[in-house]
Amino acid sequence: MEKFIIHGGRKLEGEVVVSGAKNAAVAIIPAVILSEDVCVLENIPNISDVFVLFKILHEMGAKIEVLNKSTVRIDSRFIRQPVVPYELTKYMRASYYFIGALLGRFSRASVSMPGGCDFGVRPIDQHIKAFESIGARVNLEHGMIDVYADELVGNQIYFDVVSVGATMNIMLAAVKAKGLTVIENAAKEPHIVDLANFLNSMGADVRGAGTDVIKIRGVDHMHGADYSIIPDQIEAGTYMVAAAATRGDVLVKNVIPKHLESITAKLIKCGVEVEEFDDAIRVAGVKRPQKSSLKTMPHPGFPTDMQPQMTVLLSLAEGTSIVTEGVWDNRFRYVDELRRMGASVSVDGKVAVVEGVEKLTGAPVKATDLRAGAALIIAGLAADGTTEIEDINHIERGYDDIVGKFTQLGADIRKIEIPDSQLAQAL
Ligand code: EPU
Repeated sequence: MEKFIIHGGRKLEGEVVVSGAKNAAVAIIPAVILSEDVCVLENIPNISDVFVLFKILHEMGAKIEVLNKSTVRIDSRFIRQPVVPYELTKYMRASYYFIGALLGRFSRASVSMPGGCDFGVRPIDQHIKAFESIGARVNLEHGMIDVYADELVGNQIYFDVVSVGATMNIMLAAVKAKGLTVIENAAKEPHIVDLANFLNSMGADVRGAGTDVIKIRGVDHMHGADYSIIPDQIEAGTYMVAAAATRGDVLVKNVIPKHLESITAKLIKCGVEVEEFDDAIRVAGVKRPQKSSLKTMPHPGFPTDMQPQMTVLLSLAEGTSIVTEGVWDNRFRYVDELRRMGASVSVDGKVAVVEGVEKLTGAPVKATDLRAGAALIIAGLAADGTTEIEDINHIERGYDDIVGKFTQLGADIRKIEIPDSQLAQAL
């Protein structure tokens, strides 16, 4: 078992370079299947979710060549088996993008039901509805989703909820369907636009990504492409909030400031100094942050994936803030851990009341999911004393070199391995 040890209380200072976006990469990597050719993907984040996707592609018959730390060449011409087994998908929600990509290429797919972060019920009814509406038959049995179509035919799809995953999944299948598919009430996150741009670079015809209505005219053939993935909005936001929480001064580089507007606006409301450049943002948390309430919403609203990190900042603010989770049913599980560090937060369903305290104190805690883990790191960096974070595998699913990057900013954070023998003795 591994854990992070953090000696808190140091201001973060210096520069950090943001990696490619996880939630774009996890759709774009399966999307290479559609090309039946060779693709080169740049700005790939080095995170365990991405490694799992490469493993799945490799097992299916794709040839993957690592050109450098963040660039890979994927040859998907020889993929034959449109099957993704349980062993490879159990920890990963985004494995469901293989359904759309395989359906687009082979008109069939057999993919194990997804795992991933646990914050309440995570249905996929909208994905299924969308596949069915373009002519696929969907069967859920023995933990597998089997999808099959004689022919995919474009159609009008109205989503009942705004879903990132369902929007991306139907985009993947519909690029090869016959005729026009119109997706209404589509998600508008930056990674939706990035996927559309990648698909278009392979010869697809996708218009309107980034708005509520996406129109896709199916094409017969898609070719290879060279493509660079956008920077990670949430990784950038995490370092921005960490700078503010430690009252440091950090230049966050390789970002698209437009993608960060809701985070920037919230930080400014809390009294944090934020300065925008073309592809960088400087954040300085000179004084104690002020209270500010927020509600998470689909893009362009405040992102749910920044809710735990922001709650940590507000837990150190002057005054009481209300944080409402507007996307997931149960995304406050980490609050119990944060309370162990001295935070004063009470939760009732999807609403947290955060009474700011002057300081947090280091404690042993557990990462309950990816962003909760990032939030606990921020809490540990800002706290007095030592914080030990367990279950860091959640964090490594989505943050590229988080220890290296925080260390470069002056943090005292280490990853340590607890040998199994020591564990056994302790039990
Ligand atoms: N929903 C349905 N039916 C569906 C799909 C979704 O009711 O068929 C509901 C969900 O229960 C939820 C809401 O719609 O209440 C939004 O879910 P969405 O489908 O947008 O989420 P997702 O695609 O499963 C992605 C990110 C999450 C992020 C959400 C919201 C990936 C791999 N995951 O999940 O990211 O929280 O969008 O922005 O892209 C993370 O990175 O930490 C993370 C969890």
